[in-house]
Amino acid sequence: MGLVSLSERGWIKFDHDPNILDWVHYIQPTAAGIAEDPEQKALWLRHGDTWFVGVNSLPNDPTGSVAEGPQLKGAVVDFLIKLHGSIALDRAQISVIYPGYPAFDGTESEVAHRYRKNCCGAHVDGLRPEGLNRRRFIHEPHQYVLGLPTVGSNVHASPMVVWEGSHHIIRAAFKSVLDDIPVAQWNSIDLTEIYHEARRKCFDQCKQISISAKPGECYLLHRLALHGIAPWPEAVAPIDHGRMVIYFRPEGDGNLINWLNGSY
Ligand SMILES: [Fe+2]
Repeated sequence: MGLVSLSERGWIKFDHDPNILDWVHYIQPTAAGIAEDPEQKALWLRHGDTWFVGVNSLPNDPTGSVAEGPQLKGAVVDFLIKLHGSIALDRAQISVIYPGYPAFDGTESEVAHRYRKNCCGAHVDGLRPEGLNRRRFIHEPHQYVLGLPTVGSNVHASPMVVWEGSHHIIRAAFKSVLDDIPVAQWNSIDLTEIYHEARRKCFDQCKQISISAKPGECYLLHRLALHGIAPWPEAVAPIDHGRMVIYFRPEGDGNLINWLNGSY
């Protein structure tokens, strides 16, 4: 059911797994220390100090182990090995959201802020906006996004949101352009318009769902799924030390043909 569900919906959640909980318990103090370190805060706090972005901030090795601690194991890892071969994780993102996200602090345009607030900053990973005109090129093509919450969640406190089935729309849109172009040139193709059009189609046609998960559970997102982070309204109660999720986003061998077509 896992792969069918991932292929059809673009995301799956894994039930509680003691291996995952052990891992989360082990790395949590390290991750919290990093998120509270003044130098790291200066580097990574955004949106009026309501989001510690923490890209590649966890000092884990490719097995997920931090400082001789446990490797990342469990049903989700077995599942990923079947899909992608032996596990080779990137350094994880330590993402911590605080009440009031996203606060406007003037560092992004009002249009971008409104999009973040009203559309949860919906995006597809691997297509970062570049330059003043925010043109979109393929950049950092991930194999998948794996999210591991370290604290109990409140579904109203900035959950991850996904547009179910959006990866089909995004894939078809990109293929309509890239199928006729040699893969060596894909990085230099401006996908801005096709991406915006596909994103509009996803908003129109796909159901937006919020993912709620507790420590010991985790979720996997399809590499082409449209996703984002919902706001955290001030009226929703705070969570001690914020809402932390650890994300792995390995790039694998960076093969763009697999990124676009893949086996799922
Ligand atoms: Fe993302």
